Amino acid sequence: MKLLVVGGGGREHAIIRKLRENPAVTEIFALPGNGGMAADATCVDIGAKDIDGIVHFAVDNAVDYAVVAPDDPLVLGAVDALESKGIPCFGPRANAAIIEGSKVFSKQLMKQYAIPTAAYEVFEELEAALAYLETAPIPTVIKADGLALGKGVVIAQTRDEAKDAVRSMMADKVFGASGDRVVIEEFLTGPEVSVLAFTDGETLIPMVSSMDHKRAGDNDTGLNTGGMGTVAPNPYYTADIAAQCMETIFLPTMRAMNAEGRTFKGCLYFGLMLTPDGPKVIEYNCRFGDPETQVVLPLLESDLLTVMQAVTNGTLKDTEVKFREGNACCVILASAGYPASYEKGLKLTIPAETAPHTYVAGAKIADGELVTNGGRVLGVTAVADTLSEAIREAYRLADTVSFDNKYCRRDIGARALKATEGN
Ligand code: AMP
Ligand code: GLY
Repeated sequence: MKLLVVGGGGREHAIIRKLRENPAVTEIFALPGNGGMAADATCVDIGAKDIDGIVHFAVDNAVDYAVVAPDDPLVLGAVDALESKGIPCFGPRANAAIIEGSKVFSKQLMKQYAIPTAAYEVFEELEAALAYLETAPIPTVIKADGLALGKGVVIAQTRDEAKDAVRSMMADKVFGASGDRVVIEEFLTGPEVSVLAFTDGETLIPMVSSMDHKRAGDNDTGLNTGGMGTVAPNPYYTADIAAQCMETIFLPTMRAMNAEGRTFKGCLYFGLMLTPDGPKVIEYNCRFGDPETQVVLPLLESDLLTVMQAVTNGTLKDTEVKFREGNACCVILASAGYPASYEKGLKLTIPAETAPHTYVAGAKIADGELVTNGGRVLGVTAVADTLSEAIREAYRLADTVSFDNKYCRRDIGARALKATEGN
């Protein structure tokens, strides 16, 4: 079987590695992939947003099955376009990907179907938003409606900060049309949990839970990033909470999308906050999380391609999705300065021992050498029976990778470990 994976980061590398475990897979094309995954996939220089290019390539190369991993192509209708040429795909169609593509849509969905989330208001006019902020409870959370490269959320600690955020989204259009509408919502507190789930619209099977570390610095300080590391499972996510989430959030969301005529097939990501009033949805994503995937898929025992095809065919209820016991930790290695300014093109060396644990996000081959090509360069994942072993091993392996000005947080998993010990 010839597979095509749209996307080019660490998440896609983890998906590709797992897909390769199926002996029927003869070739995997990554569009665009990156130089760091060249041993696992044939990287093709077609951008993830180039829907026409992707479809042409898939048809010309007789691709048997496609996986569309990033949000942009999903929201742009890559799955619809591939399916129209008879190519079966993993991922939601555009009318379902809107659950991530529009925060206004997702908030209204949750309100209409009584799915617990932060209280909110939607604004289409700058003046009305500013007026509302005169009396809104502080801190408050400002969200651009559309996709904004993961940067469209501002937690404002003061009224002025909130107003600045609204002005930059609605007047200065820092996120373009994504800021035409903004959601202003209640600030929630509690541990955050990421839960990815396979669903074919009829059955929903949550994967092992995980915990992201979004801030650049140790102890959750510094700027927000695309994710500096993850652990799975998330110790705050107990069996009781999982059952409650299934009942009040996961199944109601799947059914709500069906009722709206927007059946969601693919990986539905629930960003949850375990508030004192119970679990609430912080955000939905229409895809696998990055870097959550880099700890979740290494714990998957079942064959990923089989599960994905069951999602596509609507036979998930007859398919086993099994995760192994144990823990995974992923440490992201970044270029110093990320997420602000950082160097690229630094020679990257990954020892043979570490390579199978490495999911490369930003690298390319230049003059026959592997060099860095992004702020987040790669993630190193270790799986072990206990969380402390997984953390120790992930750092041991991460320390074997070299490039100039390598930076990583040194406390990935520390909070989870503390929570485990507290239980
Ligand atoms: P996002 O960029 O959508 O991943 O959101 C960034 C982060 O903002 C989330 O991971 C949360 O930590 C935080 N966040 C989003 N909404 C809220 C909220 N209503 N209350 C508190 N924190 C929030
Ligand atoms: N790790 C958060 C995301 O993938 O959006």
